[in-house]
Amino acid sequence: MATPSSSRGTWNTKIGFILAAAGSAVGLGNIWGFPTQVADNGGAAFILIYLFCCLLVGFPVMVAELAIGRRTQKNPVGAFKALSNGNKFASLIGYWGVLCGIMILSFYVVISGWTLAYVFEELFYYFNYDTAALYVGDLGNGPKNAAFTLFFMLLTILVVTGGVSKGIERATKMLMPVLIAILLILIVYIMTLEGATDGLAMFFMPDFSTVDGSLLLSALGQAFFSLSLGMGALITYGSYLNKKQNIVESAAYVTIFDIGIAIIAGLLVIPAMFVAQAAGVQIFNPETGDLFSSVTLVFDVLPEMFHNVGGFIGMLLGVTFFILLGLAALTSSISLLEVPTSYVIDEHGVQRKKAAWLVGGFVGIIGVVVSFELSLIDLFVEIFNEVGLPLGGLMICLFLGYFWKTENALLEIQDGYPTVNDGKFRIFWIIMIKFISPVLIALVLITTIWTLFFA
Ligand code: TRP
Repeated sequence: MATPSSSRGTWNTKIGFILAAAGSAVGLGNIWGFPTQVADNGGAAFILIYLFCCLLVGFPVMVAELAIGRRTQKNPVGAFKALSNGNKFASLIGYWGVLCGIMILSFYVVISGWTLAYVFEELFYYFNYDTAALYVGDLGNGPKNAAFTLFFMLLTILVVTGGVSKGIERATKMLMPVLIAILLILIVYIMTLEGATDGLAMFFMPDFSTVDGSLLLSALGQAFFSLSLGMGALITYGSYLNKKQNIVESAAYVTIFDIGIAIIAGLLVIPAMFVAQAAGVQIFNPETGDLFSSVTLVFDVLPEMFHNVGGFIGMLLGVTFFILLGLAALTSSISLLEVPTSYVIDEHGVQRKKAAWLVGGFVGIIGVVVSFELSLIDLFVEIFNEVGLPLGGLMICLFLGYFWKTENALLEIQDGYPTVNDGKFRIFWIIMIKFISPVLIALVLITTIWTLFFA
C-alpha cells in the first residue's frame, strides 16, 4: 500500500506540494471571506478568535488530514473505509466531505465568476464603455452571472483533468508573490485616503462585547474554510504526498501563510470600506450598524478604490488584482473539485477526464441556479461551510483519536519527521486532536443548534 499505484500522481517536489496546499488554502476565503467576516463581526475580537481557531483547531486537523491521506493513498471515502475495514459509519465522514465539496464549489464558482467579470469591468470603465462596464459589473444579472460561472467551472475542470503535478502544481507557482506585492502596494495607497484610519481602528481594537455563539461559529467555519479543512481536500492532497515530506512542517507553513494573506487582505479591504463610506458609498446600515450586503461587499468596495486611483494606473491595478484573485480562486476551486473527482475515480473506476467532466458538469448546473438566486450563497455558507466543515473536522478528530488512534497516525507522520515522537509537538497534537478540538467544535455546534431552534 505504501507505493502509489502508477495511475495515481504524486507531487514533483517538496515545495510543489506546499505551494499546491497553500494554493488550495489561499483564495476567496482570504480576500472575500475574511475581511467581510471581520466587518460583520465587529473587528479585532473576531480576528483574535479566528487566530485561535486556526492555530489550535485548524493546524492539528490539517496534520490529521494529511496523515490520513498519505497513509491510505485514497480519496476521503476510500480513506475512511480503508482505515476502518469498511465500517459504514466511518465512510459516512468521507461522503459528507464529498457532498460539502460539491455544494461549496457550487457557490465558489459564482463568486469566482464575479472576479473574472470585474477584470472586464475595470477595462470597460477605463475606456469609457460605461454601459458595458455597468453590465459586467452588475452582480444581480443572472444570465451574465451564469455565463461567467460556467466559464470558471470550465477552467477548473480543465486543470483537474490535467492531473496532479502537471495541472495543479504548475498553476500555483508564479501566483503568490505577485498577489502579495499588489496587495501591499494597494495598502500603502489606501492609507493615504480619508477614512482609512477608522478601518485600522476596527482591525486592531478588540471589542469583546460582540462575542457570542454565532461569532464563534463564524470564526470556526471561516478557519476551516480558509485552510481548506473538514471535507477531506487535504486527505486527497495528502494522498499524492511522498513519504519523505515532513507533514507537520508543511502544515505549519500552509497555516501561517494562509493567516498572513488573510491579515494582509483585511488590512486592505477594511480600510477601503471606510474610505468608500467616507466617499458616500453605503457600507454599513446607519441604524443597525450591520453591513448592507456581505456577499457582495468586496465587489462594491474594491472597484470603487480602483476607480479612485483613476487613469491608466488605476485600471492596471484593478485588472491585475482581479486576474490574480481569479487565479487564487482557481487554485482553490481545483481542490474542491478534486475531492469528488478522486472519489469517482477511485471508488467507481471512472477515468480522470470523464470523472472531472461528470462532477464538474453537475456542479456547474447547481452553480447556474445559484447565479440566478444569490440568496442561496448565504444558505450554502451556513449549512456546508459554517456547520458542515467544522462537523467534518469534528468527525475527523474523533475518528483519528479514538478509532485509527493517534499512535498509528504518528507512525505515519514519522516518515519525513523521524523525531516527531520525541518532541513537544506529539503531546500538543494528541491533546488537541483527542480532547480540545473536538470539545471546542462540539460546543460551538451545540450552541448554534441551540440558538437556532430553542432561543
Ligand atoms: N480555502 C479556499 C479559500 O480560502 C476554499 C477552499 C478550497 C476550501 N478547498 C477547500 C474550503 C476545501 C473548504 C474545503 O478560498
